Amino acid sequence: MPKVFSPYPSDVGTSISFNQLKVELELLEVEAEKEIENAIDADSLEKLRVNLLGKKGRLSSVLGAMGNLPGPERPLVGQRANVLKKQLQGLIAERSQLLKTKLLADLVDKETIDVTAPPIGTPLGKRHPLIRTTEEIVDLFCGLGYTVAEGPEVENDHYNFSALNIPENHPARDMQDTFYLGENLLLRTHTSPVQIRYLEQNPPPVRIVSPGRVYRRDSVDSTHSPVFHQVEVLAIDENLDFSHLRGTVMAFLKAFFGDLPVRFRASYFPFTEPSAEVDVQWRGRWLEVMGCGMVDPAVLQGLGLDPDRWSGFAAGLGVERFCMVRHGIDDIRRLYTSDLRFLEQF
Ligand code: DAH
Repeated sequence: MPKVFSPYPSDVGTSISFNQLKVELELLEVEAEKEIENAIDADSLEKLRVNLLGKKGRLSSVLGAMGNLPGPERPLVGQRANVLKKQLQGLIAERSQLLKTKLLADLVDKETIDVTAPPIGTPLGKRHPLIRTTEEIVDLFCGLGYTVAEGPEVENDHYNFSALNIPENHPARDMQDTFYLGENLLLRTHTSPVQIRYLEQNPPPVRIVSPGRVYRRDSVDSTHSPVFHQVEVLAIDENLDFSHLRGTVMAFLKAFFGDLPVRFRASYFPFTEPSAEVDVQWRGRWLEVMGCGMVDPAVLQGLGLDPDRWSGFAAGLGVERFCMVRHGIDDIRRLYTSDLRFLEQF
């Protein structure tokens, strides 16, 4: 090939000296060591490895230039290049290990688990609307100075009936047929037995409310259930009369329902005289929400209390009714079927 003049002299194809290559290798060594040490992650380290030791890498290009050396000098440079290659491979492996360890340590630092943190994603339960209604009723009476008393759901004939002036064979027993557990034990038909149990243990004056579950032998329909809930109210003191009963009931109903129309209707219960049922107007009709009355002197006498000194009033509130009117629920069964689509509305 004829030589063409160029104003930009190139040294391609010109021979290279042994010393030049040695210097290049030394330079490469110094630079590579620094670069390896500065690689900040596995990715950049891998790129660097390819750049240094890959087929088209910097070490290869030095080795390529070796072909231009005079024969005897080639192995010397070759040897030196191999040593450098091993050395750089070692440094890269070391750095890679160090980066891995560091990555883990950083992760541990960053992802420390706080075992005291509250759990996320666990749905919170809510109190059932019946329980909330019961609590609301009880709270309102507590505001009037009443305290809470409870009694057993498995009762005996005496507390559930006889002590409440409902002797055996009295027709009133028919209204409250229940589930019998042998001779004398039964599931209580109302919370009224708590009146007797409480007065046996606590001399008047007394003011109590007693919430709880009660049972009747009833068929299930939209307004009846064999298990339901009541809150019993009892006040015994000197000089209590019907105006106190009415005043208490009206104050309570106003606090619970606001201005819903209310009516007292004469009624009959063996353990009160006189007796009444209380209705509220709801959806165009009257709905009974409680029975009440002045405690019958016979009940007080049975407890050894002098009816000339002590008098009082009592009431039994149907919790389901209060709950249904409050929330506009038209079927009592909705309160017992545990359908979350229904319950989650409250
Ligand atoms: N125990 C009655 C029932 O379940 C309701 C009742 C009426 C309770 C009058 C009372 C009362 O305390 O005075 O049907």
